[in-house]
Amino acid sequence: MEHLDEGARPERVDALVALVEASFRDAADSDEARIVSDLARSIIATTPASDLKVCSALSDGARRAVILFTRMHPAESGRSVFLLSPVAVATDAQGQGVGSGLIAFGLERLRQDGADTVVTYGDPSFYGRLGFAALDPDAVPPPHPLSQPVGWIGQALDGGAVRPMSGPLKTVPAFDRPDIW
Ligand SMILES: CC(C)(COP(=O)(O)OP(=O)(O)OC[C@H]1O[C@@H](n2cnc3c(N)ncnc32)[C@H](O)[C@@H]1OP(=O)(O)O)[C@@H](O)C(=O)NCCC(=O)NCCS
Repeated sequence: MEHLDEGARPERVDALVALVEASFRDAADSDEARIVSDLARSIIATTPASDLKVCSALSDGARRAVILFTRMHPAESGRSVFLLSPVAVATDAQGQGVGSGLIAFGLERLRQDGADTVVTYGDPSFYGRLGFAALDPDAVPPPHPLSQPVGWIGQALDGGAVRPMSGPLKTVPAFDRPDIW
């Protein structure tokens, strides 16, 4: 599996969005698939290049997995914090380490770019294997009230503890919707 840091300019947005839609349709249902794939399209369409990173896993040149990272804006200056969401692996490529490998690749690229922290909102049992741990919402306040507080997780990219933040993290516009938190 080849890993590609596409920056903010994925070559084929429609193929990327279709991969997200199919992956979530098979894993969840068509409503969730539509919500997440619409979100992916909106992230790519509306996020400034400096605030977006797209990484893909390719096999024989075909995209088999994709992950989006968007910048979060803490109250403090001098921090570089990203949100990992969404990540999707083609259904027939799941359970073979593709998702874990792509997440590890993306985290390393963000670290090289100077990011200090990555947060996400997902299943702690999956992300826990990849260095993510529960975030204290008082120390790292989420952008909106969470419907599933257990899913608020993150990690510092220097291997230490996540440094606290003094106010809610602000998202890029595509994520600034209370209904998806
Ligand atoms: C979740 C997902 C990204 C994981 O990628 P993957 O390539 O299938 O996972 P890997 O092969 O790297 O890791 C597999 C391990 O993670 C576990 N795992 C996979 N999906 C999981 C989930 N949603 N929750 C908990 N554990 C999960 C598997 O049970 C497996 O464990 P095992 O090694 O003990 O058998 C992928 O399955 C996927 O795209 N699913 C549909 C979309 C989705 O749910 N995206 C994540 C939310 S944003």
